[in-house]
Amino acid sequence: MKLPVYLYGHPVLRNVSEPLTADYPDLRKLVDDMFEAMYESEGVGLAAPQIGRNIRLVVIDADPVGENFPECAGRKFVLVNPEIEILEGDTVTRAEGCLSLPGISENVPRVEHIRLRWQDENFESHEEEISGFLARIVQHECDHLEGKLYIDHVSAIRRQLIRNKLNNIVTGKVRTDYPVRFAPTVRRR
Ligand code: NI
Repeated sequence: MKLPVYLYGHPVLRNVSEPLTADYPDLRKLVDDMFEAMYESEGVGLAAPQIGRNIRLVVIDADPVGENFPECAGRKFVLVNPEIEILEGDTVTRAEGCLSLPGISENVPRVEHIRLRWQDENFESHEEEISGFLARIVQHECDHLEGKLYIDHVSAIRRQLIRNKLNNIVTGKVRTDYPVRFAPTVRRR
């Protein structure tokens, strides 16, 4: 089964997600399905709220951007209950996109260095210092677990300029190459 990606305007993207516990049913299957949905939509990360579940679970495969960002080459993660500690360093601004916001890309400032603590799908604990574009992907995905989207980090002026595009997503007037679910207010066509 292909999981649809929930789009901007759907309330599930704005909730703070619940910690994931080891008794969560069919977690392995869910992780597989999330990777499949992510590859299908050519994303490098996908957070559980984006497939309609408010649990603290993220999948990442950053390898496709490894040519431009060497720190991403070969890096694949299942993040259960991830926690980010911001480390000293610069804030860098780069363009980001999101599968829940098709057709939009905006510059987003992010810290360059983080310490990431997480559990894997077997609930084993890990800790690693992560930098650069990989740290950006992790921050973007972990934001989803707090009900935050990257456009929340964009200036009010830029948000005003993309207002129509955002409105088109909310009202179902956007096309994608991957299966999606619109806000409940959008009538099925
Ligand atoms: Ni996203």
